[in-house]
Amino acid sequence: MTSALTLSGSIRQGSYNRVLQRHVGRKLGDAGVAVTEIDLGDFDMPIFNEDLEAEHTPEAARRLAALFVSHDIVFVASPEYNGGASPLIVNTVTWLSRQKPSPFRHAVFGIGGVSSGKYGTIWGLSHLRESLTKLGTLVVPTLLGIGPAESAFDERGEPSEPAIIRKVEQIVHELTLFSRG
Ligand SMILES: Cc1cc2nc3c(=O)[nH]c(=O)nc-3n(C[C@H](O)[C@H](O)[C@H](O)COP(=O)(O)O)c2cc1C
Repeated sequence: MTSALTLSGSIRQGSYNRVLQRHVGRKLGDAGVAVTEIDLGDFDMPIFNEDLEAEHTPEAARRLAALFVSHDIVFVASPEYNGGASPLIVNTVTWLSRQKPSPFRHAVFGIGGVSSGKYGTIWGLSHLRESLTKLGTLVVPTLLGIGPAESAFDERGEPSEPAIIRKVEQIVHELTLFSRG
């Protein structure tokens, strides 16, 4: 059975990106994928610093790297901060980029995000795609950028617009099509 790991680059209470993480997870589940939903708050890693790395790599980085390579699909929901990915995502990718075997060369990745701007994380996701691609990651074509956040989902966490529903269907299709599971 194909497996997927989902995570959110925001761990704040009431995060819209966590709503997106859960929604995509449900849709992957409907497509017959076994989904593991994680909370990056359970993977504590200090801000990356090469001196720290020399002393010790956080156990959370090893644990998360192992999860990346034990799943066929990884879906990352990241908010946009100042036109880039969230600091939590950047720090997580940085620590994981130092783990061996590479956690980025096994699963097929999907990236999406919800932000308050009407361009809905497209700049942030473009940076994230660029960075992941440099690490050798296969990222599916759909950039699931959603905004403005406040009107994107209803109280059940379901998308409020047909365009969002279609985009989610598209990314789920691509993820299952390109995964090796
Ligand atoms: C430091 C900071 C920078 C932000 N930069 C952007 C941005 O560049 N574009 C945007 O659309 N929203 C931006 N936002 C708003 C976030 O998209 C919004 O807070 C979003 O709800 C965060 O995601 P979350 O709900 O999952 O925590 C920024 C918010 C913060 C705190």
